[in-house]
Amino acid sequence: MLAGRILRNAIRLVGLGSLVLHHSPITTAHVIKSHHSRPSTTGREVIRLDMGWRFWHSFENPDGITYNQLKAYILPSGNDFIANPSDRHRLPGSAPNVTAKYADNKFDDSNWKTVRVPHDWAIEGPFYVGEDVPVKGGMGRLPVQGVGWYRRKITVEPDDANKQIYLDIDGAMSYAMVWLNGKLLGGWPYGYNSFRLDLSPYLVAGKDNQLAIRLDNPTSSSRWYPGGGLYRNVWLTKVDKTHVGQWGTYITTQATSSSSATINLVVSVENKAATAKDVHISTDVFKLDPETENIGTKVASFPRATITVSSGQSVRSNSSTLVENPQFWGVWPSQEPNMYVAVTKLYASENGTVIDTYETRFGIRTFTLDSDKGLLVNGVPVRIQGVNQHHDLGAIGAAFNVRAAERQLEILREMGVNAVRMSHNPPAPELLDMLDRKGFLVMDEIFDSWELSKNPNDFHLIFQDWHEADLRAFLRRDRNHPSIYLWSVGNEVGEQQTNAAGTAVARSLINIAHDEEPTRLVTSGMNSAKSNMPFPSVFDVISLNYQGEGIRDTPAYSHLPGITTPPAYSSFKSAFPKKLIHSSETASSLSSRGIYYFPVTSEISAPVNNTSGGNSNTKQVSAYNLYTADFGASPDRVFIAQDQHPFVAGEFVWTGFDYIGEPTPYYSSRSSYFGIVDLAGFPKDRYYLYQSRWRPDVRVAHILPHWTWPDRLGKVTPVHVFSSADEAELFLNGESQGRLVRKTSSYRFRWDKVVYAPGELHVITYKHGEVWAKNTVQTAGKAAGLSLSVDRSSIRADGEDLAYITVKVVDGKGLVVPHATDNITFDVSSAGELVATDNGDPTDFTAFPSKQRKAFSGLALVIVRAKTGERGPISITASGVNLEAARATVQAS
Ligand SMILES: *[C@@H]1O[C@H](CO)[C@@H](O)[C@H](O)[C@H]1NC(C)=O
Ligand SMILES: *[C@@H]1O[C@H](CO)[C@@H](O)[C@H](O)[C@H]1NC(C)=O
Ligand SMILES: *[C@@H]1O[C@H](CO)[C@@H](O)[C@H](O)[C@H]1NC(C)=O
Ligand SMILES: *[C@@H]1O[C@H](CO)[C@@H](O)[C@H](O)[C@H]1NC(C)=O
Ligand SMILES: *[C@@H]1O[C@H](CO)[C@@H](O)[C@H](O)[C@H]1NC(C)=O
Ligand SMILES: *[C@@H]1O[C@H](CO)[C@@H](O)[C@H](O)[C@H]1NC(C)=O
Repeated sequence: MLAGRILRNAIRLVGLGSLVLHHSPITTAHVIKSHHSRPSTTGREVIRLDMGWRFWHSFENPDGITYNQLKAYILPSGNDFIANPSDRHRLPGSAPNVTAKYADNKFDDSNWKTVRVPHDWAIEGPFYVGEDVPVKGGMGRLPVQGVGWYRRKITVEPDDANKQIYLDIDGAMSYAMVWLNGKLLGGWPYGYNSFRLDLSPYLVAGKDNQLAIRLDNPTSSSRWYPGGGLYRNVWLTKVDKTHVGQWGTYITTQATSSSSATINLVVSVENKAATAKDVHISTDVFKLDPETENIGTKVASFPRATITVSSGQSVRSNSSTLVENPQFWGVWPSQEPNMYVAVTKLYASENGTVIDTYETRFGIRTFTLDSDKGLLVNGVPVRIQGVNQHHDLGAIGAAFNVRAAERQLEILREMGVNAVRMSHNPPAPELLDMLDRKGFLVMDEIFDSWELSKNPNDFHLIFQDWHEADLRAFLRRDRNHPSIYLWSVGNEVGEQQTNAAGTAVARSLINIAHDEEPTRLVTSGMNSAKSNMPFPSVFDVISLNYQGEGIRDTPAYSHLPGITTPPAYSSFKSAFPKKLIHSSETASSLSSRGIYYFPVTSEISAPVNNTSGGNSNTKQVSAYNLYTADFGASPDRVFIAQDQHPFVAGEFVWTGFDYIGEPTPYYSSRSSYFGIVDLAGFPKDRYYLYQSRWRPDVRVAHILPHWTWPDRLGKVTPVHVFSSADEAELFLNGESQGRLVRKTSSYRFRWDKVVYAPGELHVITYKHGEVWAKNTVQTAGKAAGLSLSVDRSSIRADGEDLAYITVKVVDGKGLVVPHATDNITFDVSSAGELVATDNGDPTDFTAFPSKQRKAFSGLALVIVRAKTGERGPISITASGVNLEAARATVQAS
């Protein structure tokens, strides 16, 4: 079913209409049709700058340039996002005193690498292994540090001489500085935000113009893998001198009844012409099919307005209209993500010509954040079944890719996820668009640190200068997304603990958010602020990290040093009875897919250490999913706490997918152990524990561990089953191990005394006395061959779309060999190319683009793309020593 759905989407994406403009973030789709230009009949041309880049990277500072030296020239780039005119930055009167030789028009970059953007300079590795290395486990052991230069020519037609031309960068990691024809234009230090620079003053129409972008990634700047480079899309926007400004529409909706909704629209019109302009503004509202993205029938029009915009000014025009019988945007699966698109046109008043067309996608919906009932979407309670997601996409790194992100969402949705927290930074705009269209909820977040640092080179260095511009830019970019129900201005910041001082910083951020975007509430993830401290009192919503379910307060954690916090939901409820309370981070369970250690703790939650759940030699964590970070809790324990506190609106598990970096508890590794799904996208056992809770209608009975233990003959080998059933009976080789009845506050069936014998484990589960789901696990034999399965049998030949192919090491009967670590070699035929391989093993330092990959717990993954324009079959072969090879075919079209 999943595969069919994906295929349908893929086909429809190709047929997208040409009306899709830059602001409708699924630009990726139109880009598939034409990489380089879009018709200008609508007055606006948005060109994706993906090809034609030259790139060079240096670990040392190659030109002596630093951000601090040029700061005065960079700060004014944020001026549009600083409310108080007297706080805006003035450009120095003289040119900067630096020689930027790599920005020079005459610099010969022909020896530089040719790259396609989005591009992550670090993901290909090699990994840094050992302790005396510049980038350690926390940041993923990949070469993110240093200075990267990107150069590209921009050709501007003579016709464009009267146009306004902008460079729009969705994300550049980090400290971006941009030159055009050797002149410094500005930049944006924070790597996760999107920004715009005006190229017009320095562009020469009818000529090649040299664009040069310098990025600088410090070490010790992040608690996870940041990636490096122009890792999101870059666009050239050509518009009339009088145009809708950057993120220049703001739509809010009020459902006045179930049969009518009021839509309010603010359009900001900017005039960069030398004289004042009169423009007419018209906006029509159409249905938008969230699946096909086709524009449907017109449902409303805003009253036409005429405004005069003085030279160099921006004027806002407000209007409202009614939509009759609105189809509400809602959360899947109980509601549908219905969407609309507002198409705004600007007309020159003197001759009636359309000078700009601008699309804004939106949804009509209500969110009620109720302190007792939780989140209500269109008046109906929706429990938040969320996960935290960092921005990397596993083996392809931080470089944004639509298909890679979509695959993550499909895997998460199948588990029952309905909400994503953007931990801890603004995401790619295309991801938010996808979340809207698929009907997920989003907690959109901007900062991991404020004035106080977590790492010597993190955001605290620029907080003072940039927090307002960053926060307003983030809110302005994302405010029209129907999926976003809450803004988060921080995560686990040090300011939680500094009382009045930290609270003042929090208040200033909240005030900015309320001023910029008054329709949504504001929160911050809190792991150490207690209910009696001043910090939580200033937030609209209480978002707890770990302390909701309690930190280190159960027997298995009693030997650990550090704070002990009893479950805090009740104390926050007493202190803030009117505020919605939910958990922005829960669990921090740790596991390695398919790895099990013995003995198994008899507790329901225990800290991992070298003798319990972990192993300092293998650097793996047992997948019984009872083991956690020192501050964490098993899923079971979180469920107990949530069920005992029904006012809690839900949770965001830390994390949905494993991510690169932060490999607690083994920092010699490359990637995390926190994910419900491993880095390759393979579900760990606890995927089925969450699925049983979040989709209790799914007939699942998942057995763990695997049953191939040649050295455990006669040894106690606990068997656990995840199911939404209320009774379960386990059989080993036909012999009952007992029929268990699920008890209150119990979320798994566990037979902890099973004695291992090879053969077959079989479970029969029951719900309300009827058979619910059954499952069988058999002892596997010797590895005999490989088996391949593709996630989609057809992909687009656009050089970007991806096929994910799973490789299983199987025995003679086709059973997965659970201990298999065979070295597999991949071969991809010439119409396609291998992008990366992985296996989800946090300790595997084989570089991601390698054609050889060892299996991990019997599985490996190969990611393949079609070469641009090369249609036809791509064949993928997997082979290994003493293994029967396997082949799969993916059609590129
Ligand atoms: C330019 O920078 C150099 C080196 O930092 C310095 O010696 C020189 O005085 C500066 N010139 C001006 C005009 O600031
Ligand atoms: C227009 O909308 C903006 C943003 O919501 C608001 O600040 C402003 O007061 C409105 N102006 C009018 C005239 O309604
Ligand atoms: C109409 O007026 C606009 C604004 O002055 C100008 O840009 C455009 O070229 C004119 N179009 C025609 C067809 O005269
Ligand atoms: C490991 O954790 C267990 C509790 O699960 C504890 O009893 C034991 O003392 C710990 N071992 C070490 C070496 O810390
Ligand atoms: C696990 O063992 C390693 C290597 O002996 C040691 O460095 C580490 O501190 C141990 N961890 C724990 C939690 O005991
Ligand atoms: C896997 O096989 C390839 C090709 O024989 C070899 O180059 C590579 O070193 C092997 N990798 C491992 C981890 O054994």
